[in-house]
Amino acid sequence: TNKIILDSDPGIDDVMAILFAEAHPAIELKAITTVYGNATIENGTRNALFLKQKYGFNADVVKGADKPIVRDPVGPTIVVHGETGLGDVHAPTDLTLSADPRPAYQYIIDSVKAEPGEITLVAVGPLTNLALALEAAPEIAGLVKEVVVMGGAFGMNDHRGNVTPYAEANIHDDPHAADIVFTAPWPVVVIGLDVTEESFFSKDYLDQLRDDAAEVGQFIWDISRYYLKFYSEKVGLEGCHVHDPSAIAYVIDPSLFTLREGPIRVVTDGPAEGLTIQKFDERKYQHDDWGMNPAQKVGVGVRDEALLKLYRETI
Ligand code: BDR
Ligand code: CA
Repeated sequence: TNKIILDSDPGIDDVMAILFAEAHPAIELKAITTVYGNATIENGTRNALFLKQKYGFNADVVKGADKPIVRDPVGPTIVVHGETGLGDVHAPTDLTLSADPRPAYQYIIDSVKAEPGEITLVAVGPLTNLALALEAAPEIAGLVKEVVVMGGAFGMNDHRGNVTPYAEANIHDDPHAADIVFTAPWPVVVIGLDVTEESFFSKDYLDQLRDDAAEVGQFIWDISRYYLKFYSEKVGLEGCHVHDPSAIAYVIDPSLFTLREGPIRVVTDGPAEGLTIQKFDERKYQHDDWGMNPAQKVGVGVRDEALLKLYRETI
């Protein structure tokens, strides 16, 4: 099994990913570390605790960063994920469970050091917690099994962003953190927007899940009503893309994805702030400091039918 810490900004598709990870036998969900993003850190953390309480997860819930490292905060994406992050569903404010007392970056450091080579970090929100962990304890880079990120966009079908034409939300929220994470000497796999948008939960797919997957199916259906309204009104699609669950799908079955290797950097300011770029050709230049950065893996294709089947069967 893969022991994972799922770093997330819960978030409707984040919850779809959390439930997927918890349900699949190939994954041991050790913790959900939270980060601002789709919701405020308070709301996102409450959403994670709500899931833990509702479904009896063993996973720890750990509160993380409330703002990016350098840039000004963008603020929660209420139009996509609703006022508190789960659309029309609101986690109770009187939950009996509470978060681990440590900040998320410290929890990550402690966990990785306690089980060297064993832990996969899966990040499906802004990369602030991971960057803070690396800054406080750079040695963890050599102790993590793998880092799997949903974020960025690398240009399949010329697709480079959703919040701006050149930036995807998770990276745009904290481009400096993303650049730290992608250039660190640990193995990173990035599944970007251009690939997650190849997989689509149609309205019918979600209806079927509600009918076949008992209470969990109903819960996913309930939280996704608001999301589908956004998609219908603003994107013009009847259904939603499969962003965050794609990162979990990679951990369960990497053969679902086609990957390309090369160093990755992030544009940290200017009109293309948050743009992710990968150098994947073999050409060498005289002043090629890019070559100094570790080659990381980027998704360039997905077997979407197989991914949808895996999600359905798991839930
Ligand atoms: C990413 O941004 C968030 O809205 C989603 O949860 C996902 O992680 C997609 O750009
Ligand atoms: Ca997310």
